Amino acid sequence: MKSLFITGTDTDVGKTYITAGLAITLRKMSIDVGVMKPFAAGVAQKKGFKSEDVEILSNAAQINDSETLVNPQFFPISASPYTAWKKLKIKPKIPLILSSFKKLSKKHDMMLVEGMGGTLTPILKNYYITNLIKDMKIPTVIVTRSKVGTVNHTLMTVMMCQKYKIPIKGIIINNFDKGYPINQLKKDLENLTGIKVLGSIPFIKDMSDQSLYRIFKKNIDMKSLLQ
Ligand SMILES: Nc1ncnc2c1ncn2[C@@H]1O[C@H](COP(=O)(O)OP(=O)(O)O)[C@@H](O)[C@H]1O
Ligand SMILES: [Mg+2]
Repeated sequence: MKSLFITGTDTDVGKTYITAGLAITLRKMSIDVGVMKPFAAGVAQKKGFKSEDVEILSNAAQINDSETLVNPQFFPISASPYTAWKKLKIKPKIPLILSSFKKLSKKHDMMLVEGMGGTLTPILKNYYITNLIKDMKIPTVIVTRSKVGTVNHTLMTVMMCQKYKIPIKGIIINNFDKGYPINQLKKDLENLTGIKVLGSIPFIKDMSDQSLYRIFKKNIDMKSLLQ
């Protein structure tokens, strides 16, 4: 079973919630799924995990892996790893990320790794999220939104993955902010990229495990995701 890197066309497109929904669904399919957020950033939470994303992902997968493995580096600033490095003098450690990923991969059947921002979020000079995906040697799933303008962002993301020769498992449309008619968007993205749209997720009111499982099972082609 292949691990997946969940990237997105931008920050706030729903990477965390889509990754959580997938983790819950895989878990309910009796797959031992682990999660990872290599770099997280923002104001640290006062209780529990420093990063809210890490908390959401760990709860979704119901794992008890240590925070330092799931999220090897946390930057207490809302910025890319590169900017955090320049401002806070905390250098992003790629070997640490890769060794943590290897350890977690040995513990679980499959890993879901949430990216940060988009594909060209800088980590080091000339080293982007795309380089990290390439070094992890796993395929990616691209999360897009449904707002007008998403086609441009999705095509740029797909082209960047292709430039780095990263296999793209599929696209998931997070249809939470509407705008583009969803069937048209799905057709346009598939025709323009040749990549399968694995499904679209509506606006979710109830974020409980049961609700996410129901929504993801109904709307996502899990078989293609796992192929
Ligand atoms: N399908 C959805 N339904 C309702 N709210 C959503 C949905 N997807 C994302 N959100 C909300 O949008 C915000 C950004 O989503 P998030 O998953 O954190 O994005 P990212 O990880 O890409 O930065 C969150 O506050 C989340 O609650
Ligand atoms: Mg996130």
